Amino acid sequence: MKLKLLRIVGARPQFMQAKPLTQELKKRGHQEILLHTGQHYDDRMSQQFFRDLNLSKADINLGVGSANHGEQTASMIQGIEKHLLENKYDAVVVDGDTNSTLAGALAASKLHVPVVHVEAGMRSFDKKMPEEINRVLTDHVSKLLFCPSSVSQNNLAQENIVKGVYLSGDLLAQCFYKFQKEALARVEQNLQQYNLKQNEYVLLTLHRAENVDNQKRLYDYLKVIATSPWTVVFPVHPRTYKKLVEFNLEHIIQQKPFQLIPPVGYLDMLALESSAIKILTDSGGVQREAFYWHKQGVILRDNTEWTEIVDSGWASLYLPGNDSCDLWKICDANLLTDQQFYGSTDVAQKIVDIMEANLL
Ligand code: UD1
Ligand code: UDP
Repeated sequence: MKLKLLRIVGARPQFMQAKPLTQELKKRGHQEILLHTGQHYDDRMSQQFFRDLNLSKADINLGVGSANHGEQTASMIQGIEKHLLENKYDAVVVDGDTNSTLAGALAASKLHVPVVHVEAGMRSFDKKMPEEINRVLTDHVSKLLFCPSSVSQNNLAQENIVKGVYLSGDLLAQCFYKFQKEALARVEQNLQQYNLKQNEYVLLTLHRAENVDNQKRLYDYLKVIATSPWTVVFPVHPRTYKKLVEFNLEHIIQQKPFQLIPPVGYLDMLALESSAIKILTDSGGVQREAFYWHKQGVILRDNTEWTEIVDSGWASLYLPGNDSCDLWKICDANLLTDQQFYGSTDVAQKIVDIMEANLL
């Protein structure tokens, strides 16, 4: 017997997380239909990753595009529900915490199609984040929940979710280790292209709604990051770029130390991470990748779901006004643990083993 699964993707990190699982399912002869909601649609936010990762084109693209949360999520639910009414699946697989995740979980659970949530149990305990709402709701309607860490497993237990919960590790970690070598082969080319020297620049990403939609917060971050002793390479998310223009803050990032670049492909992003002296980010994915590269990081938030990274000293949390955090300090890396908290190369294998045992 073989599984027939509907896999929902839509936003940038979900393409990386799709890769290892898609490969493992294919290897075992299971059928996976890839549904792209169209939440991200610019070439640099979507198709670029299909090329980089050598992922087959999505079987279905709903093309929902950008809108307010309600309208965007509703269009996705409508499209996914229609597809589920016309096609039979053993389960719908969603990952992470985007609107595409929640839409997949709601459409499937109401039609009694089992929901599999990858990256389950992550919590910031901050309901002001749209992602926190998406995660909590998705976890509560899921049949199988794959946790990247024991902390996330414990978070679910605190909400009385214990059945169907498994510790799998982080699919993004598996993708990282798969492409690490290819990324390293791109380092020279990237350093040349952006006129950078190894370990002489900081890499910055900033896109969380609570950071960039708030004019004062965004301004305060940029002002403090402008004090960097190193060049600050800033591949800017389209949401952030729009806000920089809307808030008239472009003049800040047009000057040194900032070096603004468009969003880059996955391999180039990994290459830029690998050679940075430090990584400043509010991204869930980039903070983990910094950790996987053994790079010191600053998480531009006052909390993180990936608590092990901060607890082990690899990154600190920073909100503007927190004068006790020295953004530009480099610690002796020998004093930091290189423990792999989130698994490495067999995450997809574990997930498929458990799906086979529970869904066939
Ligand atoms: C979404 C996720 C966030 C994730 C991020 C990954 C939600 C609620 N948020 O945030 O958790 O970390 O993706 O990058 O699902 N835009 C474009 N081109 C695109 C996509 C977006 O210009 O291809 C612009 C639009 O102006 C849009 C804005 O970016 O309104 C925000 O896009 P949206 O998908 O709503 O949220 P993200 O900030 O990308
Ligand atoms: N990323 C990329 N190019 C960029 C910025 C990020 O390829 O210009 C990758 C990054 O390496 C990671 C993922 O996108 O794998 C993280 O996505 P993002 O920061 O958009 O979302 P989050 O992880 O915060 O949900």
